[in-house]
Amino acid sequence: MSEKIYPVNPEVAAQAHIDNAKYEAMYEQSVNDPDAFWGEHGKRLDWFKPYTKVKNTSFDPHNVNIRWFEDGTLNASYNCLDRHLETRGDQVAIIWEGDDPSESENITYRDLHERVCRFSNALKAQGVEKGDVVTLYMPMIPEAAVAMLACTRIGAVHSIVFGGFSPEAVAARIEGAKSKVVVTSNYSLRGGKIVPLKANVDKALEHPAAAALVTSVIVVKRVDQDVAWNEKVDVWYEDLVAAASAECAPEEMEAEAPMFILYTSGSTGAPKGLEHTTGGYMVYAAMTHEYAFDYKQGDIYWCTADVGWVTGHSYIVYGPLANGATTLMFEGVPNYPDNSRFGRVIEKHKVNQFYTAPTAIRSLMQQGEDVLGDSDLSSLRILGSVGEPINPEAWEWYYRVIGKNRCPIVDTWWQTETGGLMILPLPGATPMKPGCASRPFFGVQPALVDAEGVELEGEAAGNLVIKDSWPGQSRSIWGDHERFTQTYFTTYKGMYTTGDGARRDADGYYWITGRVDDVINVSGHRMGTAEVESALVAHPAVAEAAVVGYPHALKGQGIYVYVTLQSGFEESDELIKELRLHVRKEIGPIASPDLIQFAPGMPKTRSGKIMRRILRKIAEDDFDALGDTSTLSDPSVVDDLIENRMNRK
Ligand code: PRX
Repeated sequence: MSEKIYPVNPEVAAQAHIDNAKYEAMYEQSVNDPDAFWGEHGKRLDWFKPYTKVKNTSFDPHNVNIRWFEDGTLNASYNCLDRHLETRGDQVAIIWEGDDPSESENITYRDLHERVCRFSNALKAQGVEKGDVVTLYMPMIPEAAVAMLACTRIGAVHSIVFGGFSPEAVAARIEGAKSKVVVTSNYSLRGGKIVPLKANVDKALEHPAAAALVTSVIVVKRVDQDVAWNEKVDVWYEDLVAAASAECAPEEMEAEAPMFILYTSGSTGAPKGLEHTTGGYMVYAAMTHEYAFDYKQGDIYWCTADVGWVTGHSYIVYGPLANGATTLMFEGVPNYPDNSRFGRVIEKHKVNQFYTAPTAIRSLMQQGEDVLGDSDLSSLRILGSVGEPINPEAWEWYYRVIGKNRCPIVDTWWQTETGGLMILPLPGATPMKPGCASRPFFGVQPALVDAEGVELEGEAAGNLVIKDSWPGQSRSIWGDHERFTQTYFTTYKGMYTTGDGARRDADGYYWITGRVDDVINVSGHRMGTAEVESALVAHPAVAEAAVVGYPHALKGQGIYVYVTLQSGFEESDELIKELRLHVRKEIGPIASPDLIQFAPGMPKTRSGKIMRRILRKIAEDDFDALGDTSTLSDPSVVDDLIENRMNRK
């Protein structure tokens, strides 16, 4: 790992919200006196009823209980909209940049407020009440943000399903959340291609359990094309908002009222719906957004994520809008109409902060230094990275080619569970080391533990845990608090288990090394190997499947699949294609296996457990590091697997 250090740019530090002295003083207070610290910083929101209690949290596995600001009441939508109307009603809240570069739209706070009020009333008219879950399956269009804010305005809980997930995944999430209303669009547009989004909802509703729940599907007309229509449940978004009043008072919500659910993959079982609540989440999203990106009034801020992921929730919608920022929402892809698109958007809207993922940086990097053409990037001040460890080469390229050697890179480590950024170099405070997430945000107490849970001191490598609660933390898994406790608080007692490994260097900086569990990170998208395996074994040809990650130049990790066929099925290239399609259908294109290898036998212990360590090493071509194979029930299996692996090249 690179140990090169880039000192803080003194000009950046002089103007930044947080310089190093401030960081150290604030960090110390945040961990020594969290009540005083967060009691003060919670005031960045407008509360209907101010809180008097601040922190009430326990990581004790017998009673995991996380409550922040619990006796206060507020509304997330009010904090993102209404409170800005007087001072910045005419300021642009959302710059929407369409897939087609000729399409863009500026939506002011006043416009957005009106649209949200109308859609809030429309949702109510569809029978949505406080506490109900609304499923959103939407492209990156303004209506996605409107729908999120309308849900939170009326106290409904949104559950966004990324538009790249399959009908099966949509159905499972509708069922898991017991959602009655779905919001979607007829089609979506990506890279000039039309994607049939509503048709996927129709297929999801072929599942009887989902169909029994859903009473309306609200459809935005994104593309002027016909779509299959079911009079019983389908209703046009445009008709509903035209008929709705533009006034809707925000619901007064308790700080701990659920705000949204977001499904994410774990190492076992089906994806889990993590629950975030209102007060703590909003305080944390707003504060991290302002400090991490050194956001100042008038800045134009762009996060390239999708609202289907937590990054889109916290850093396209809630954090920026709570801060009264101008946030850019991009419908398209980096390589349409050509590879210079990111540069063109930065130039067109004079973007000051640009927040993207290492996989996007690597794919630009592949195109060469002039990939952004003659785009004017001089408006950029701060760059951000999220989703996976950024390799030092990509970091250096990002710094040099996009940032022109003058913009700090904020490498932000965090998770769906954490609600907001956790470990990052603050631009005016922290010297940067390429590829290093660096130092904890205020209130975050990371630690490293060994396999037994013993805390490691000083320079060390181990399992990354967080020792105490922070306001943005997920409170539970929707409907299954026991699973929440089991997953995050029992491995190392009294600590939150992240599932990541990390190294701490002599300066106390944290370097994230990647997942230590059976979760893989494909282009910054989190994928449970168990999920892909269960999709595969549902195919009639598959007797057994084992999935591991392997290093992939663009995606960070690729999906490597070993399958043992049922007797009677023949190995063939057609079958490989079919299996790949099958996984795409079951989960979605993001789970598409990169390599599929037929494995007549799996390496198993005598008790029948697959030894994934061996499969991982074979997939990595690291044949010399297989370790002890003598405990396998049939060690010769390994030679066959290696031979097959070699034949694939
Ligand atoms: O392994 C870490 C990796 O992404 C995981 C969280 O994925 P998800 O919940 O989908 O959230 C992604 C967006 C926050 C983590 O457990 N990860 C995320 N950001 C980084 C990272 N790994 C290293 N460096 C990062 N900056």
